[in-house]
Amino acid sequence: MIKAIKGTNDILPEEIVNWNYLTNIVKEQMRFFNYKEIRTPIFEHTALFSRGIGEGTDIVSKEMYSFIDRSENNITLKPEMTASVVRAFIEHSLGKQSGLNKLFYISPMFRQERPQAGRLRQFHQFGIEALGSHNPALDAEVIQVAFEILKNIGLKDITVKINSLGVPEERTKFSEALKEFVLDKKDQLSEDSQRRLETNVLRILDSKNKTDQQIVANAPSILDFLGEESLEHFNTVKELLELAKIPFSVEPKLVRGLDYYTHTTFEIVSSRVGAQSALCGGGRYNLLVEQLDGKSTPAVGFAAGIERILIACNAENAFTVEENPIDIYLVRLDKEIENIVFKISSELRKNKLNVEFDYLSRSVKAQMREANKYKSRYVLFVGGEEYEKGQVQLKNMETGDQQLFALNQIEDLINNIK
Ligand code: HAM
Repeated sequence: MIKAIKGTNDILPEEIVNWNYLTNIVKEQMRFFNYKEIRTPIFEHTALFSRGIGEGTDIVSKEMYSFIDRSENNITLKPEMTASVVRAFIEHSLGKQSGLNKLFYISPMFRQERPQAGRLRQFHQFGIEALGSHNPALDAEVIQVAFEILKNIGLKDITVKINSLGVPEERTKFSEALKEFVLDKKDQLSEDSQRRLETNVLRILDSKNKTDQQIVANAPSILDFLGEESLEHFNTVKELLELAKIPFSVEPKLVRGLDYYTHTTFEIVSSRVGAQSALCGGGRYNLLVEQLDGKSTPAVGFAAGIERILIACNAENAFTVEENPIDIYLVRLDKEIENIVFKISSELRKNKLNVEFDYLSRSVKAQMREANKYKSRYVLFVGGEEYEKGQVQLKNMETGDQQLFALNQIEDLINNIK
């Protein structure tokens, strides 16, 4: 038997209700904060991601689903949305149409990571990208959007971590200091971190390896390398988060796995999802638009992993979704009148009622069982003596009341139900 590819999930109807619950909250908050939806293709030219995310990052160096198509194009299934949104922003000159563009997305992403709980090869993100302003209030807003969504979904056990990576000159100075700090302990570092020493020394700071963590425990802090402007930006973000009553902790080791960040970075973590604790992550990326050949445009955003959030929700019992009952179940009393049942149900459905009936030639008892399973508000009995008299009988399943309606006046029945 052919099975689904490792690290991909089918989302079955019983889970879809939770997905819809979550995405409805996302869309509601996007309305409150005035973000507009954007959809971009599932695949892009590979160069977009290698240039956008950074050649030395784990995503680009070992996780992308890249292939050469039949026209010799080098294509990659999108591992994240920021680069794609920036590409669309430049391609459609969105910056010319509006000074500030606030965009949101919900989309599948692809990364060939080692699958484990909360880590998939096809996963889903929702996120936002706000392009066009340096204002630290926008950094605070982006964090607030993420926080409000998670709170509104019902999560309680979440922590906001923030940091600032300053501007490239500050980061370069810090990277040199960090490199010097770890150099004499190089041999004790994990293999990954030894490689990072050459490619992206900052990433050693958020290594999951215990020895690496001990080694960098007393490493210099990036915050000591920030200049006046960067510090002021960071301090304002913190002040605004306090005003918005968002609890946060400053984590100088929060560097994130993508190269495009400048100034603010943040993550919201849950202690309920095991090793993959980051429910969402993001930050400011003032240089990316220019780097992808657009006009210099400051920007900030985040993305959140839907599967991880649902794991956290499950662990916290954050919400339960009641399935919508159907309006009417048609119970067919005689086999011969199948066509009539079909006709009545079509009429009811045209009137926006949620209707079901039996396709499996089941007994009346089995049809009633089915009606109960669907928690049907009404049952309509079609057949028997009443049908001979040109009538159908409607039963209100909550009160038990029964009422007869003429078959040629189904609109009376519809009005009665609505
Ligand atoms: P990221 O940290 O790579 O950032 O991913 C954001 C979130 O996506 C993670 O916190 C996690 O919840 C989820 N995620 C990532 N990889 C996986 C996976 N393999 N399986 C399941 N969930 C996963 C970005 O993608 C940036 N584009 C965020 C951003 C937007 N920064 C600025 N704007």
